[in-house]
Amino acid sequence: MSNVLLQLNNWYAGYGDVDVLNNLHFTVKEGEIVALVGSNGAGKTTLLRSLSRTLKGRGDITFAGRSLYDETPEKVFESGLVQVPEGRLLFDQMSVHENLLMGAYRRQGKAAIDASLERVYGLFPKLYERRQQRSGSMSGGEQQMCAMGRALMANPKLLLVDEMSLGLAPVIVDQLLEILSTIRNEGITVLLVEQDIYAALEIADRGYVMVTGAITQSGSADELRNDPHIREAYLGL
Ligand SMILES: Nc1ncnc2c1ncn2[C@@H]1O[C@H](COP(=O)(O)OP(=O)(O)OP(=O)(O)O)[C@@H](O)[C@H]1O
Ligand SMILES: [Mg+2]
Repeated sequence: MSNVLLQLNNWYAGYGDVDVLNNLHFTVKEGEIVALVGSNGAGKTTLLRSLSRTLKGRGDITFAGRSLYDETPEKVFESGLVQVPEGRLLFDQMSVHENLLMGAYRRQGKAAIDASLERVYGLFPKLYERRQQRSGSMSGGEQQMCAMGRALMANPKLLLVDEMSLGLAPVIVDQLLEILSTIRNEGITVLLVEQDIYAALEIADRGYVMVTGAITQSGSADELRNDPHIREAYLGL
């Protein structure tokens, strides 16, 4: 049986005095792709922010065998929990190459960083072609690749990917999903957060459905895809 990488119990998080997330129980095992799906405003991004500890949460949070409860966002990032943020948030005026290096800013050792660069350029040949180009001048799909590459430069154990498919053509989304599968096969665990439930369940092993800050359903990707309620409410079938 595979090991638990991330475990949340009795988890609450929100803004000011208002909790958006209510009593979540959530597990990601090593080597999995887990999808977290739910409609606009459900609290998916809030959950990711509370995992990376840029937003306070209450409850139990364990990652790679350690509690992250009292850790700073920098320590969490260094421990291998790395977010590809919603909206990509690249440094628009900087080149692709410079953006990638920003992902490695907490790492030591030129050889290790060079090896990561080579790996990222291998996964995304487009980024290598465009390495000197200003990131803000690239297409949405290329920018998403750059954001994913930057996160990989941090040497993550768990990659948190927020709304990767937003605004992108289906053919680009398929390419990015395939790259996530490759990344997982290379040993990086993935938590994929998507409004596009169909895309997410296509590559995920398991999934959680979130509605207004609570998990309402969970199961294998197959179970969720074939669930009558999900087919009606989210897939329009
Ligand atoms: N900075 C903030 N301050 C106050 N409330 C916020 C803030 N950010 C989000 N919220 C509220 O928290 C709730 C959950 O928002 P969140 O962004 O986590 O949803 P989401 O599932 O990621 O949605 P989407 O699919 O649109 O990205 C919403 O009601 C939203 O209005
Ligand atoms: Mg969101």
